[in-house]
Amino acid sequence: MRLLLLLTTIFSTFCFFTTTSTPQRYEAIFSFGDSLADTGNFLLSGAIAFPVIGKFPYGETFFQHPTGRCSDGRLMVDFIAEAFGVPKLPPYLARAKGQFFRNGANFAVAGATAIDTKFFYDRKIGSLLWTNSSLNVQLSWFKELKSSLCTTAKDCSEYFRKSLFLVGEIGGNDYNYAFFLGGGLKQLRASVPLVVETIANATSILIEEGAVELVVPGNLPIGCSAVYLTLFPSPNKGDYDQRNGCLKAFNAFSRYHNAQLKLALEKLRQKYPHAKIVYADYYGAAMQFFHSPLHYGFSNGVLTACCGGGGPFNFNNSARCGHLGSNACNNPSTYANWDGIHLTEAAYRHVAMGLIHGPYSFPPITAAASHV
Ligand SMILES: *[C@@H]1O[C@H](CO)[C@@H](O)[C@H](O)[C@H]1NC(C)=O
Ligand SMILES: *[C@@H]1O[C@H](CO)[C@@H](O)[C@H](O)[C@H]1NC(C)=O
Ligand SMILES: *[C@@H]1O[C@H](CO)[C@@H](O)[C@H](O)[C@H]1NC(C)=O
Repeated sequence: MRLLLLLTTIFSTFCFFTTTSTPQRYEAIFSFGDSLADTGNFLLSGAIAFPVIGKFPYGETFFQHPTGRCSDGRLMVDFIAEAFGVPKLPPYLARAKGQFFRNGANFAVAGATAIDTKFFYDRKIGSLLWTNSSLNVQLSWFKELKSSLCTTAKDCSEYFRKSLFLVGEIGGNDYNYAFFLGGGLKQLRASVPLVVETIANATSILIEEGAVELVVPGNLPIGCSAVYLTLFPSPNKGDYDQRNGCLKAFNAFSRYHNAQLKLALEKLRQKYPHAKIVYADYYGAAMQFFHSPLHYGFSNGVLTACCGGGGPFNFNNSARCGHLGSNACNNPSTYANWDGIHLTEAAYRHVAMGLIHGPYSFPPITAAASHV
């Protein structure tokens, strides 16, 4: 089994290098979502709620300067762009600086929700929100940009046929905000259909705008995240998965959201048979390293954050990564968790490779691109 895994890793590495040298498969990539995908919009919008994003140690790996990514280095969207020969996606809010978007744009904003923020303000949990740039706002940005990318219907349809659309990950924050304010699992489960319908509707709108190849990711295993492990500790050993130390009920919640999302995507495939709608299994891809950390080089573990201000998982809400009282580890690639909430570049690379070359995209993302 280990040998098989090792061979898979070697094979993936091999494919990774060969893929980057083949001609580009997409002309452009358009990305929507939250901090898992934001390459600078939140920082460009002022980052009032999270100004440390613009300071070291954010960005210390690879870029060697803070870029507005919520990680030490690259995100999944960066690895996907690299693999498909597209330049790293510029944040849409850089448009004022005359940014060129013909190879795509990133509309994702850290802290964004799928559902419009009025919903959260009406329920008195608006004060926590980092941004009002929900999925609908991001879609309106796309529509604004569209007229500068292509003009005639024929031109647009040709161009979008050669573009990849990443619809998320989005929706995780709709739950995070509510959980952090004390929302129960049962209450939150009731909100899953609305979140999923919002993501499915955005996917339909993009298809009607001309998108043909779309990747819609599910949620990560939130029960393995340092912030959840710190905020929701349990005295009952049975609440933890013995195989990995993650909180079982929160992981079951992620799986519930993902199952609903997969059902919604299946309906969309029937409604739009000409479109290729890929489900990206972030949960499954990440679970590999939560189960076998050492196998993936995470010698310092996968539950404890690299950068933080102490506590059993190195997540301290009074001294979060980048704030006074916090420290970053020396080698982020030996950790899966970056700042308690987000993953390290090493972990994102693994998840991205699992989608591009592994079995974690359905149908396979590479096969979806093969027509070009
Ligand atoms: C979002 O919108 C609400 C209501 O319009 C406003 O009060 C709030 O300041 C906005 N939040 C951000 C982060 O822009
Ligand atoms: C999704 O779209 C349908 C059809 O336009 C609409 O009736 C429904 O209210 C939308 N749902 C959400 C959550 O936006
Ligand atoms: C969390 O950070 C605060 C502020 O720096 C500090 O006083 C406290 O001791 C830290 N908690 C832990 C568990 O390290």
